[in-house]
Amino acid sequence: MSKRPLRIGLVGYGFMGRAHSNAFLQAGRFFKTEYEPLLQAVCARNRQRAEAFAANWGYQSVETDWRALTERKDIDLIDIASPNDTHRDIAIAAAETAKMILCEKPLGRTAAESEAMADAAERAKVSTMVWYNYRRVPAVMLLKQLLDQGRFGKIFHYRAKFLQDWTISAELPQGGEGLWRLDVGVAGSGVTGDLLAHCIDTALWLNGPLDRVTAMTETFIKERKHNLTGRVEPVGIDDASAFLGRFANGSLATFEATRYARGHKALYTLEINGEHASAAWDLHDLHRIQFFNHSDEGRLRGWRNINVTDGDHPYMKHWWVPGLQTGYEHTFIHQFADFLNGENDPPAFRDGVAADRVTDAVLASAKSGRWETVAASKK
Ligand SMILES: NC(=O)c1ccc[n+]([C@@H]2O[C@H](COP(=O)([O-])OP(=O)(O)OC[C@H]3O[C@@H](n4cnc5c(N)ncnc54)[C@H](O)[C@@H]3O)[C@@H](O)[C@H]2O)c1
Repeated sequence: MSKRPLRIGLVGYGFMGRAHSNAFLQAGRFFKTEYEPLLQAVCARNRQRAEAFAANWGYQSVETDWRALTERKDIDLIDIASPNDTHRDIAIAAAETAKMILCEKPLGRTAAESEAMADAAERAKVSTMVWYNYRRVPAVMLLKQLLDQGRFGKIFHYRAKFLQDWTISAELPQGGEGLWRLDVGVAGSGVTGDLLAHCIDTALWLNGPLDRVTAMTETFIKERKHNLTGRVEPVGIDDASAFLGRFANGSLATFEATRYARGHKALYTLEINGEHASAAWDLHDLHRIQFFNHSDEGRLRGWRNINVTDGDHPYMKHWWVPGLQTGYEHTFIHQFADFLNGENDPPAFRDGVAADRVTDAVLASAKSGRWETVAASKK
């Protein structure tokens, strides 16, 4: 049976542009799908660099203005892998020209932005997805299956951390290529939207809605030179963010993200404690979960270290032989394959709105010093 062509237009050739392009090329080779992804065009402002990227990955053409990309009739899907300040306008233009839309996280710089994107996509009746790729780690997916089977009983605690250390130097400038994450106008927020957003999305997916939060944030370096203006300017992002919260299921939330944890590069960890079981996962050892089952025989009870690489583990039958591991790039391949096949409830724009509502509440609480209610989502 011949496959349906899916002509992709990618915006941005940076870190995520590469991760997504790899997923577009690999998904159909390892997963059965009715679609044939075609790398139709890549868009970035610098034509020469975009052409080099297109040659390396096999994109057929190049655009330097994303509006021209969204208007093209020979494109079915727009993938937004550019900085956060571009997401809303590109997504709305893509919806208005009836394209499917994939977008990087955070969906918007604020929930108001992501809400406008979700509304536009719903008006146009186009499929959407947000690249919350950590849901697609086989070990995290196994955790989801164990939770859905009720093996944990009542959940008491959910805690998550995302720790990095790359902005500690006061000499590091803000803004421009590679450093847009430090420019609040472009990023929307600091670690809250960048790192905590991942922790929040996984938590909402695994443990349900968060009702309210109380937070603190800190900006350790108050001024940095701005790469685009050449001037020393105030830093508007949060360098560190921590919050306590209550989930709708009654469990307590403890979350922390920072770029000031010396020695940690991308330490995303989560732990869940329930009435019958506990589990923990760590991005630095991403193919394992630690699992404690209280119904094990008392004398043998202990933390199991499960290597999630067997054929009956999520996604693993599509890869190598049992015992051989998959890595970071596979999470994007899994997510794209799930989107094409409509499997495993791929995160859509409404899920992006839900995460952004929590990050908005976290930032509002850090400002007000009070508990803040998370706005209810439509979904
Ligand atoms: N899912 C994840 O784990 C993950 C990881 C990293 C980044 N992200 C998200 O992905 C997005 C991109 O981040 P990145 O790390 O790939 O950034 P990056 O700086 O590596 O790349 C950004 C790209 O966007 C291009 N760009 C910027 N403005 C543009 C415009 N107006 N029109 C067209 N192209 C434009 C740049 O030229 C560059 O190619 C961000 O929203 C970020 O939060 C997600």
